[in-house]
Amino acid sequence: MLPSTSTLPSLGLGTFPFSGVFTPLDQQAASDVLRAFVEAGGWYIETAPVYAPNGINFEQLIKSVGRERLFIATKCVTGRDATGATVRSGKSHHLREQCHSELKRLGVNHLDLLQLHTVPEDASAEESFGTLQELKAEGLVRNVGASNVSLAQLKAFQAVGPVDFVQNRFSFIYRAQHREIEGFCLENGTLLNPYQVIERGLLTDSPRQAFRDGDLRNNKYEYSGDVYAYVRSWVLSDLKPIAETHGVSVTRLALGWAVHQPAVGVIPVGATSTEQVRANTAASIGPLLADVIVEMESAFERLEGAVRERVGLSLDEYRGL
Ligand SMILES: NC(=O)c1ccc[n+]([C@@H]2O[C@H](COP(=O)([O-])OP(=O)(O)OC[C@H]3O[C@@H](n4cnc5c(N)ncnc54)[C@H](OP(=O)(O)O)[C@@H]3O)[C@@H](O)[C@H]2O)c1
Repeated sequence: MLPSTSTLPSLGLGTFPFSGVFTPLDQQAASDVLRAFVEAGGWYIETAPVYAPNGINFEQLIKSVGRERLFIATKCVTGRDATGATVRSGKSHHLREQCHSELKRLGVNHLDLLQLHTVPEDASAEESFGTLQELKAEGLVRNVGASNVSLAQLKAFQAVGPVDFVQNRFSFIYRAQHREIEGFCLENGTLLNPYQVIERGLLTDSPRQAFRDGDLRNNKYEYSGDVYAYVRSWVLSDLKPIAETHGVSVTRLALGWAVHQPAVGVIPVGATSTEQVRANTAASIGPLLADVIVEMESAFERLEGAVRERVGLSLDEYRGL
């Protein structure tokens, strides 16, 4: 029997890395990662139809640990057609097709969570979110939500039906959007399952120096040259000493801080090895002491101040976000 959402927050496993966008994984490596996650007590896993299949068979992965041990979250709106081309639509028939094809791809009878991956441009909130509510009423989906949404868009969805989960990007060094929606989440009992909480390895003890050819991070301004090197050097010079003083890891600071934030339910973090799964699981248990948070916030203010002084931009602007 899975823990109920009232026992959250906890660490989830994001499987975007299984699509080969970062350090590549094959079926065996993905299976090892999932098994390590479940053995460490994890139960929330997340995927999306748009993630490249990369030769990974999710049905087999899920069967290998047992469907009953997992809370399975996936998304819709953006998907792929039979030729592999990306399709984006919030039309009712499209969302229904995607839901059924996710049930088939994952080899399950119901989805624990289905979120609109983005706000569709070709359908109203009534049509898109209303379709998710119907799928929930039909028992194909247990929870519904949205992703990459503004407060106004969330309110429009909530007017159609309850938003169980919302997934926006959120981390210790990227928070603006979260601050906008946290009041809404608290008022409406909506849980956050934020993404990129460890900033794709940047907020860990050993941020990568460089990425292999073909790594998605090479195409992102925030991971390029001077910008990445500058934030990485701050992680090592300002965050790492706080971690060392308190006998914890930098990853623990990043995940412990996020666990502490209002409305955060479960934190899906991607991993490409069993070592990362174990490190992240250990780093996610419980909130941090208040004085650690205070030290972290001072370090964050120093980073923001230094960036402002250096280039006259906010940290988000400097990182191209
Ligand atoms: N709704 C949306 O639009 C959206 C967007 C993005 C992501 N997501 C979801 O959120 C999940 C998390 O985001 P993400 O996977 O993109 O990024 P993430 O969780 O911030 O970073 C994952 C990457 O960080 C590195 N890493 C993980 N643990 C580490 C550790 N302990 N030490 C050092 N490096 C470590 C690994 O890459 P390397 O080993 O290759 O360095 C891993 O692939 C996704 O998997 C996906 O489910 C949703």
